[in-house]
Amino acid sequence: MAPKLNKTDSEFIRAIVHEKAGIVLEEKKSYLVDSRLNTLARRLGHDSSARLVEALRTTFGRGLQDKVVEALTTNETSFFRDVHPFEGLRTQILPELLKRRAAEKRLTVWCAASSTGQEPYSVAMLLREHFSAQLAGWSVKILGTDLSTQVIDQAKAGRYTQLEMNRGLPAAYLIKYFTKHDADWVLNDDVRAMVEFRTFNLLDPFTAVPPCDLLLMRNVLIYFDLNTKKMILDKVRRVLRPDGHLFLGGAETTLNIDNGYERVAGNDTTTYRPRSSWSDAAPASRVSKLATLLPTSGDRL
Ligand SMILES: C[S@@+](CC[C@H](N)C(=O)[O-])C[C@H]1O[C@@H](n2cnc3c(N)ncnc32)[C@H](O)[C@@H]1O
Repeated sequence: MAPKLNKTDSEFIRAIVHEKAGIVLEEKKSYLVDSRLNTLARRLGHDSSARLVEALRTTFGRGLQDKVVEALTTNETSFFRDVHPFEGLRTQILPELLKRRAAEKRLTVWCAASSTGQEPYSVAMLLREHFSAQLAGWSVKILGTDLSTQVIDQAKAGRYTQLEMNRGLPAAYLIKYFTKHDADWVLNDDVRAMVEFRTFNLLDPFTAVPPCDLLLMRNVLIYFDLNTKKMILDKVRRVLRPDGHLFLGGAETTLNIDNGYERVAGNDTTTYRPRSSWSDAAPASRVSKLATLLPTSGDRL
């Protein structure tokens, strides 16, 4: 059995992941860190995760750190995950929003932390299925972003295993929008072309993000500490249009984190939007623990 990481190495890895992705890895989950790092270590030609950590402490450049972060992200997702947000979109949110945007004929959707693409593709299929006629002649932009290049590459390919298809995708959608390729299913080009995928770290400035009508940032805030949540929600508030909707995961909320949002309770789902009377406080900032664990010469990262 490969040797486990010692406490110092574990702390170092957790600091890298926090610094680069904002993700807090709990100490009690070190078995998970160990096993994923071991897999990565072997893929990169090291004989154990401890050797990989040694390399991390000495290697120049960000490449290796990025690989470690990617290996330690949780990419769990599925088509039409949790059902209700998509029901809310279909029955209430989109009908209202499309009326409001009827003059400008423009709709922008951003799935931030979109993992392997099931979420933005679910939005694309839903638009196809229920709003095609209404959206004829519109400019519809669906953007899917994630920190991990690996999941973004899979998302771009739009190729899914039978197991991934079985999770949440209605049978009628499978027949209509996918084609079988060997043992997998590939999303048809016309739907695939509706979504643009890019790598993007939510810790980075949102300067290139367009104003959004719908912003799905689901099941990612849960991994961050309070300051990181505050910082990201603050940036989100500035790109979300005043009458737009922010969707969070079932275990996530803006409550007690960012008072600049109001809850919008719908029949099927709850979303958030910027509070019109909100006056800005200074955005939160993050503290780097990694800086304290690395030599100060600055030439090792
Ligand atoms: C659990 S998945 C959620 C996927 C999808 N939103 C859903 O709800 O089904 C979380 C995703 O967040 C991404 N992620 C984690 N930290 C991130 C960060 N700092 N910036 C961008 N994406 C991040 C991970 O790579 C992962 O794919």
